[in-house]
Amino acid sequence: MATEIIATGKAVPARRVTNDDLARGEWIAATKIDTNDEWIRSHTGIGARHIADEDTAASDLALEAAKQALVMAVGWDGTGNGAASREAAIAETALTLDFIIIATVTPDFLGCPSTACIVQDKIGAKNAAAMDITAGCTGFVYGLETAAGLLSINKGRKRALVIGADVLTKVANWNDRGTCVLFGDGSGAVVVEKTGNPSEGPGKRGLLRTILGADGSGTEYLINRRGGTRNPWKTGEIVDIPPHLEMDGRAVYNFAVKAVTETISRLLAEEGASSGAALTFNDLAWIVPHQANARIVQAAGKRLGIPEEKFFLNIEEYANTSAASIPIALDEMNRGGKLHKGDLILTVGFGGGLTYGGNLIVW
Ligand code: COA
Repeated sequence: MATEIIATGKAVPARRVTNDDLARGEWIAATKIDTNDEWIRSHTGIGARHIADEDTAASDLALEAAKQALVMAVGWDGTGNGAASREAAIAETALTLDFIIIATVTPDFLGCPSTACIVQDKIGAKNAAAMDITAGCTGFVYGLETAAGLLSINKGRKRALVIGADVLTKVANWNDRGTCVLFGDGSGAVVVEKTGNPSEGPGKRGLLRTILGADGSGTEYLINRRGGTRNPWKTGEIVDIPPHLEMDGRAVYNFAVKAVTETISRLLAEEGASSGAALTFNDLAWIVPHQANARIVQAAGKRLGIPEEKFFLNIEEYANTSAASIPIALDEMNRGGKLHKGDLILTVGFGGGLTYGGNLIVW
């Protein structure tokens, strides 16, 4: 029994803001940032980001990504395939879902209700349980493993929708040029299905292995201090700056390079040991890293001797979309014809918590 990704989808806000736009203060009248394209590109590889408007929350982006994935899952091609319309195809497929998991650190509401419940209602997935996962930018990696686990222990359950959705620009401190230029908004979604294919041995398919980890001693390195029960708003309090992420960039950078390096090495070594045939990066079609900073990926690649072309990077267009970055990349690769049946791919993420992890998948 394998857990396979059978469909993908993505959504980013229409408003595209380049580094130059930020420096000129052209994306929002009040905010001109003391930065420039050269600095941002040379330090991060970021060229632009997509920024949600005031009325757009995480569930809106998640909903659109989910719809795209559901349409692909049912194979609706605009001409029929059983469903009368795109909406009908979405509604039909939604009813086949057993779980909806959304990884996010920017939910529509603080804690309750979950963003997953909002999406569950909007797509009409009446048979699905729904919950959010908070694991920072590693959230999608956690979500995929959670879905696979839930499907494997529930005999009658077959399909899950796993979404990464974040609107980090709403929790960025636009007065802190060291963090605000890094973030963008978006969502990526996958439909995963329990299939009759083997998950080990010859012809193995789907999610083969996952590493999940955390280092809570690094909570201070990436933190949104206000609004939770540790630091709730007080009656009459005057708020001069909205809740926002604070980051120790250097500490996160060092953690990230180590996390990426070790997760790739461990996934390859552990899968090689269990299957009896050593695996190297040469066996991988792609490494799909969390897109936080191209320099993190380059540094990890250099340590492991892995050429840059092995890593799929789209950070130049989207910046860091947190839990959405890996599923957005998967959807772009999938629709762009970069993924072929049988390809071995490795995802690797890291983020607030601190958390890290990766999945090894036969596409
Ligand atoms: N534009 C122009 N200059 C900037 C700038 C910006 N947007 N942000 C910072 N600078 C300046 C600083 O003020 C500093 O100037 P100074 O030397 O005159 O004081 C200089 O650039 C160097 O700043 P520093 O913070 O030391 O840069 P860095 O090389 O460490 O790079 C990050 C900063 C944020 C790019 C890097 O630390 C990083 O990527 N960390 C990981 C962040 C991350 O991935 N977070 C999300 C994890 S999921």
